[in-house]
Amino acid sequence: MNTKKIVVLPGDGIGVEVTREAVSTMKAAGEEHGFTFETEEYQIGGAGIDSYGKPINEEILTACKNADAVLLGAVGGPKWDNVPDEIRPESALLSLRKELGLFTNLRPVKVYEALSDASSLKKEIVSGIDILVVRELTGGIYFGKPRKTEKTSDGERAVDTMTYSTSEVERIAKVAFEAAQNRSKKVTSVDKANILAVSRLWRKTVERVAQDFSGINLEHMLVDNCAMQLVRYPKQFDVILTGNMFGDILSDEAAMLTGSIGMLPSASLGDGTAMYEPVHGTAPDIAGQGKANPLAAIASVAMMFRFSFGAEEAAGAIEQSIEDTLNAGYRTLDLAAKGTQTVSTSEMGDQIRKRMKESNKETSRRMTDV
Ligand code: IPM
Ligand code: MG
Repeated sequence: MNTKKIVVLPGDGIGVEVTREAVSTMKAAGEEHGFTFETEEYQIGGAGIDSYGKPINEEILTACKNADAVLLGAVGGPKWDNVPDEIRPESALLSLRKELGLFTNLRPVKVYEALSDASSLKKEIVSGIDILVVRELTGGIYFGKPRKTEKTSDGERAVDTMTYSTSEVERIAKVAFEAAQNRSKKVTSVDKANILAVSRLWRKTVERVAQDFSGINLEHMLVDNCAMQLVRYPKQFDVILTGNMFGDILSDEAAMLTGSIGMLPSASLGDGTAMYEPVHGTAPDIAGQGKANPLAAIASVAMMFRFSFGAEEAAGAIEQSIEDTLNAGYRTLDLAAKGTQTVSTSEMGDQIRKRMKESNKETSRRMTDV
């Protein structure tokens, strides 16, 4: 048996309930595919502020560094809107990304056939979409210095700083080109080069890295145009490569192509322990009511099997049962539609695990038949 140590960080709001389903699904997939898991759970974000006065601490960061993978829910909520800047719940996420060196954020945007009616866009615009957003995660305006708010004679003045260095752009561009080689070989690099010096360096560096990859079709697109193209003709995109803040914004927009932000998983990768989390937030309005969609969190577990454990079969089995469960007509509230059956967060998790077990049994049966 292959034993893996997983740090689980449910966070706040619906983070807690979707992570519960993700962990159960991870264990169930482990049983079918030869993994056992030792999990350690810690409170971060608002839950951290409530229990030990900070959104995260050194002990937790160290536990994450020593784990085989980290599974995270979501952080934040109105309850902590007025805490001092240094201890905002979101800073837990930023510390994790920085301390674990997670410069790559992969956000696959896939439209399941069963949900091609669920988007606010027309079916023919979204059906069959398969985009990979490659977002740089440890640089840009999220981390640049100076970063402060100061008093002035006529009120206050706040500064954030956008920076990227050549090496930061190079390493994320490589990730995007490598990913594109196994896909449709098209990379759209998104920037604001008509205005920002940072973007001109970004563009120049991406051009140079592209020369090491043959057969890739690279195009550059300004971020405002990209926002428009994503709703106009999203099928033109394969890999979208972009910086931290543009990636944040565009991935929420792209999520809506899939029908719900509750569908988008993500993997944050670096040189050490990787972290997996749904793209959505804490949805305080529906938290604790069993209404949340756990599929993004569950699909994030599939990415964990794929990228951290090289277990493609387990990853594929989870993704297949998501597809099968949607095909069978089960929907959480965010996706509810006529002719489908609305289920709770935990019922959705049960359906996924049930189908995963059944199809594994079916595969083993077929293998003994031959
Ligand atoms: C995301 C989130 C985070 C981000 C927040 C919660 C810090 O929106 O992962 O997309 O802005 O990166
Ligand atoms: Mg976001």
